[in-house]
Amino acid sequence: MAIERTLSIIKPDATRRNLTGKINAKFEDAGLRIVAQKRIKLSAEQAGKFYEVHKDRPFYGELVEFMASEPVVVQVLEGENAIAKNREVMGATNPAQADEGTIRKEFALSVGENSVHGSDAPETAKEEIAFFFSGLELVG
Ligand code: TYD
Repeated sequence: MAIERTLSIIKPDATRRNLTGKINAKFEDAGLRIVAQKRIKLSAEQAGKFYEVHKDRPFYGELVEFMASEPVVVQVLEGENAIAKNREVMGATNPAQADEGTIRKEFALSVGENSVHGSDAPETAKEEIAFFFSGLELVG
């Protein structure tokens, strides 16, 4: 199996409720290693650029406003099949549909305020990691 890296974001609803440690424990318990991590406050412009792929969706404005509302923790997770494994640990986008034991089932408030982001494919993982981190910041 391939060792991969994926970009994860602990979103404002979770940082606000002091859940960073509990969410990180879920990643580590699943065998994902946090190889880079920083707490930052996104500007609306930065959040808009990160989610540009959704710019024509009806929820885009609200999503950008939410992501820029309070600090987030951006991180790089590494492990075997890290992209798919992280998506599994996160659970479905809508917490009402998320499986038991997943981060979104346990912590998410709604489909919008759903606690975590995770890259969905190798190409997006590469782009999203480069959006936030330089190579020097990744310590495997
Ligand atoms: P998406 O990429 O579909 O989901 P995921 O985060 O699971 O990869 O959507 C990105 C984010 O957009 C999602 O995490 C929350 C927000 N969103 C809404 O606010 N309403 C919606 O109906 C959808 C589909 C997403």
